[in-house]
Amino acid sequence: MRILVCGGAGYIGSHTCVALAGRGHQVVIADSGVNSSSRVMQRLQRLVGAPLSMHRVDVRDRRAMAALFATYRFDAVLHFAALKAVGDSCRRPLDYFDNNIGGTIALLQVMQEAGVRRLVFSSSATVYGDPSQVPVREDAALQATNPYGRTKLVAEQLIEDLCGSDPHFRAANLRYFNPVGAHPSGLIGEDPCGEPNNLMPYICQVAVGQRDRLQVFGSDYPTVDGTGVRDYIHVVDLARAHVDALEYMVGADRGFTVNLGTGRGISVLELVHAFERASGRRIPYDVVARRPGDSAEVFADPSLAHALLGWRAEHDVDAMCRDAWHWQAQNPQGYRSPLRRATTPRVQRPRAVVARLAGA
Ligand code: NAD
Ligand code: WQD
Repeated sequence: MRILVCGGAGYIGSHTCVALAGRGHQVVIADSGVNSSSRVMQRLQRLVGAPLSMHRVDVRDRRAMAALFATYRFDAVLHFAALKAVGDSCRRPLDYFDNNIGGTIALLQVMQEAGVRRLVFSSSATVYGDPSQVPVREDAALQATNPYGRTKLVAEQLIEDLCGSDPHFRAANLRYFNPVGAHPSGLIGEDPCGEPNNLMPYICQVAVGQRDRLQVFGSDYPTVDGTGVRDYIHVVDLARAHVDALEYMVGADRGFTVNLGTGRGISVLELVHAFERASGRRIPYDVVARRPGDSAEVFADPSLAHALLGWRAEHDVDAMCRDAWHWQAQNPQGYRSPLRRATTPRVQRPRAVVARLAGA
């Protein structure tokens, strides 16, 4: 299939492009660059072994998007394009509503006009708010606890209503838990700009010497060691789930919503210790007050994704830490670091696909 990947130059999108190409699909990226480096393309091309089409386009720009749909006949769209920082969304909610909700509406309109009726949407466990029960199932109550979370909830609802109005429109709504790690090549990974908001990139920056100490937000939660528990999932497993969802959707007579997590809760200190083992570096930390809005324990029941798609996470926390560290150690400045010689083979792909991607 020929797939439009909106937000494909970002963290999860770039890993998904590699997974798509590895399964023989043709990839066209549309990304505004609001949170991505132009250097990711060089890395992706090295991994995929063929040129990729990349367009610097904002999904809200209907005219530019319509031109893309007129140039390529897409079989489906993967929609990663969003702003994602919770704290930032509290400071400038209107920008989040405009980019994430406005962007989704614009994309759906352009898809409808072009007659493209398959969508894979990047949702989040944030739509469960502070869940009353773990593991969290897809039928748990939904709640927005911050403007970012509201954009995901509203986008899910918009997509559901569109599916209700058009019996041929199929949407896979994927609720990610806590994506971490990097491609094992060390060529692509998470490259936050400024101070990281999330735990794993913060740990990585302490390990590499860019930050002195980690702050552990609270040690008085009713959890295994008092620190917050989350469901960390390797980004390579997450990327594979998108291809599984896409391929499943082709033969399905309806859309679906699934959790993507491992089903296993890991505490902050468990992650810190796993990272120390994987990296051989010490991660100094201070326990500070709880972060407002944080839940004690959130982890997925991922059984529906397995039942529907045959998907389950394969990488454990040690692999997540090993690959996150490999990326960080190879690229202390993220994508601003010089590109090193490849150390792992490219993804294996059918010859015909290489030729097609190369424009033959
Ligand atoms: P990211 O910021 O690395 O990637 C998002 C990409 O979208 C970036 O390359 C950015 O430049 C692009 N983009 C943003 N707005 C755009 C627009 N209007 N038009 C075109 N491109 C635009 O984030 P990520 O971590 O890869 O997240 C991808 C998706 O997954 C997002 O929708 C996010 O909300 C969702 N998600 C992420 C996490 C997480 O912890 N990383 C968890 C749950 C859900
Ligand atoms: C994990 C744990 C913190 C940083 C967020 C978003 C969510 C989703 C994923 C997009 C918690 C603790 C963290 C630090 C710490 N994103 N922590 N010190 O909060 O589960 O989810 O990212 O959809 O919407 O809210 O992830 O990585 O920020 O925190 O102690 O410096 O680590 O308190 O227990 P979270 P996180």
